Amino acid sequence: MKKLVNAAVVSASLLSPAYLLLIVNTGTAIPVAAGQFASIGLPGVCLRRPFSIHDADGAVLSFLIKIVGGGTRRLAKLKPGDTLSIMYPLGNGFMLSEKPAVLVGGGCGLAPLLLLAKQLQAAGARPLAVLGGRSKDDIVELGALAKYAAVRVATEDGSLGARGLVTAELNDLKSGAAVYACGPEAMLKALHKLAAEKNFHLQLSLEALMACGVGACLGCVTDTLKDGRVCVCSAGPVFNAEDLPW
Ligand SMILES: Cc1cc2nc3c(=O)[nH]c(=O)nc-3n(C[C@H](O)[C@H](O)[C@H](O)COP(=O)(O)OP(=O)(O)OC[C@H]3O[C@@H](n4cnc5c(N)ncnc54)[C@H](O)[C@@H]3O)c2cc1C
Ligand code: FES
Repeated sequence: MKKLVNAAVVSASLLSPAYLLLIVNTGTAIPVAAGQFASIGLPGVCLRRPFSIHDADGAVLSFLIKIVGGGTRRLAKLKPGDTLSIMYPLGNGFMLSEKPAVLVGGGCGLAPLLLLAKQLQAAGARPLAVLGGRSKDDIVELGALAKYAAVRVATEDGSLGARGLVTAELNDLKSGAAVYACGPEAMLKALHKLAAEKNFHLQLSLEALMACGVGACLGCVTDTLKDGRVCVCSAGPVFNAEDLPW
């Protein structure tokens, strides 16, 4: 059940030069499935902005945000006690499977994976999380994630973990695993190809430019094999890899 709330900012702290951890109190505890997102209204910015729910603990939500433009720069300037209009939880979220779980995040694609690892652990699993980025500055929240998952890291410049792409870390993946991924489209497309070769079940969280976040403006459509053209915000953002015509 989605709600529009005025949430109080608890903290907005920089984790690295480009990554912000925003914590808010919405005043109401609403169940959130990992992979669902929130649409955040910013004072002085015309369109609301979508962000994955990074963690949810009762009425307290956190967001892991990469600062890329005007809206996210404003979020980085928030102070405790400021208020934000937040509509959540939106979208479908990941379907939890009983198969061995591997979480793959690229850059701010780590955002929905913390809550996912937490929910998988609560269901009795011990997931493996594989994180990738251009450099060590793209790898944040390792300590938080390590509470719920074994973690492997790959950076393109080798400044943290293995040198190379995150997909190279999946070479020893057993067939039959359940892989949950979020990150840049190039990474998702490489995983899509690998899933067919290695026979693992893959769920992908897609990004799209979004205005309404609730299936009304048709600004975020994508093609699927099963249902044709659908809105990423309401039919997704999580899709089974085999439903995507990539
Ligand atoms: C379902 C969903 C969940 C998301 N979750 C997160 C998250 O957890 N953390 C996070 O950091 N970001 C997330 N994003 C992306 C985030 O919404 C955008 O980075 C943000 O809206 C940019 O706002 P801005 O005003 O700072 O940038 P703008 O000034 O609007 O744009 C700056 C640059 O970012 C690009 N951009 C803007 N919006 C998007 C978008 N939706 N997808 C891809 N590129 C975009 C623009 O094309 C431009 O190049 C998510 C997007 C979606 C659709
Ligand atoms: S953002 Fe409006 S339909 Fe998806």
